[in-house]
Amino acid sequence: MYSEKVMDHFTNPRNVGEIENASGVGTVGNAKCGDIMRIYLDIDDDGIIKDVKFKTFGCGAAVATSSMATELVKGKNVQQALEVTNKAVMEALDGLPPVKVHCSLLAEEAIHAALWDYAQKKGIKIEGLEKPPQDIGEIVEEEDY
Ligand code: FES
Repeated sequence: MYSEKVMDHFTNPRNVGEIENASGVGTVGNAKCGDIMRIYLDIDDDGIIKDVKFKTFGCGAAVATSSMATELVKGKNVQQALEVTNKAVMEALDGLPPVKVHCSLLAEEAIHAALWDYAQKKGIKIEGLEKPPQDIGEIVEEEDY
């Protein structure tokens, strides 16, 4: 049911933890399944993501997608990080079962929430970034469950 990469990132997740005094922190939940994800970003003066950590209270697919998402945004600038979609994360994981696609949205939205927090703290605007919802259950289609 799950690809080897999903199993690898689930059993051996990368970048688990917290960053003290992070440049941006984003927390997103899905009230429908009760899962929550938090992403911490450490961004330098040039807007490069130097470090990223995550904590996920959620299902295996949510753990694997957050792990892969952190790997994909590390070393990127904020604009590039914004372009890391849940589709890109799923492709990097060699796919997810259809009923688990919504879990990958949690990772995308948590990164957006952390970028949003960073932009608010810095008083800057990141082009293309809109305020992310706190509960993605509102934007996930019923048939995704
Ligand atoms: Fe909720 Fe996977 S079931 S994030």
